[in-house]
Amino acid sequence: MTCGTVTLVGAGPGDAGLLTLRGLRALEHADVIVADRLGARAVLDQLADEGVVLTAEVIDVGKTPGHHPVPQNEINALLVRHARAGREVVRLKGGDPFVLGRGREEALYCEAEGVAVRVVPGVTSAISVPAVAGIPLTHRGVATAFTVASAHDPIEQLPGGSDHTVVLLMGIGTLAHTAGILARGARGADCPVAIVEDGYGSGERVTIGTLSTIAALAAVRQVRNPAVVVVGDVVRLSSAWPGDSLSGALSEDAEGDRDGTRFPATSFETAFRLPPVSPVLAHRPRPLDRKTLQP
Ligand SMILES: C[S@@+](CC[C@H](N)C(=O)[O-])C[C@H]1O[C@@H](n2cnc3c(N)ncnc32)[C@H](O)[C@@H]1O
Repeated sequence: MTCGTVTLVGAGPGDAGLLTLRGLRALEHADVIVADRLGARAVLDQLADEGVVLTAEVIDVGKTPGHHPVPQNEINALLVRHARAGREVVRLKGGDPFVLGRGREEALYCEAEGVAVRVVPGVTSAISVPAVAGIPLTHRGVATAFTVASAHDPIEQLPGGSDHTVVLLMGIGTLAHTAGILARGARGADCPVAIVEDGYGSGERVTIGTLSTIAALAAVRQVRNPAVVVVGDVVRLSSAWPGDSLSGALSEDAEGDRDGTRFPATSFETAFRLPPVSPVLAHRPRPLDRKTLQP
């Protein structure tokens, strides 16, 4: 019997519109789909709702942050077992398989067992979830580099100051600790922070503060995983930024309560009919100069 292949597919952050066309083709040709819960299951459900017929058997390995009901070694063994039985296997993973996703680990295991592996990159939550709040990770004159890190690992050595954006995944449980460490470094306690929860999901919500306020705000708002934490001056570019934001200045017919929770829709929200973000005000920080884009 000919051995099947394993295709690692990035499902994106949980919106079928952000699955790649190549990813969709792989799903359509699969005999078996081994899916994580975060991102991946939601995409399969949305495809079904849109009338996309997938004939594959779906095996839910249920991975959510901090909760892995099927251990990694069993997932690896499952992929190899199905491929050896001659099946085309898609391993559907949230975001991009190679961004804090153990994708290469799974691929190395399969290759060591003689199973060929293909990779279809996905849209990582590290970039796409901040975009929900209109936050770019780089912006001319504001930030030219960014670091994506797992908040489960030591972050003392992260480079740069507030002009070097830090994106923390899996960052809610350790938020007070990581914010404290970053505040004591070059970024300082006033460095802006945004938390975007459940990007593209029904619980989508944005919380904005600084390194000194964000942990208390998150506790009051009962912020939960999944969430992406963005640290740096780029947060000031968000339409949700409570100060004199650049995006607010660009929105001429803007209607919103700058002391409450309603803000003008960003062009992104308008274009794609996303629900409005509901930020919380921490303080009124230094505004960006609209010419230099510096605080
Ligand atoms: C184990 S990491 C996997 C990251 C994934 N490989 C990627 O590229 O997006 C899981 C973390 O990604 C973030 N995440 C993934 N999808 C998200 C979403 N829709 N909204 C907010 N955060 C998300 C959260 O920080 C979550 O704890």
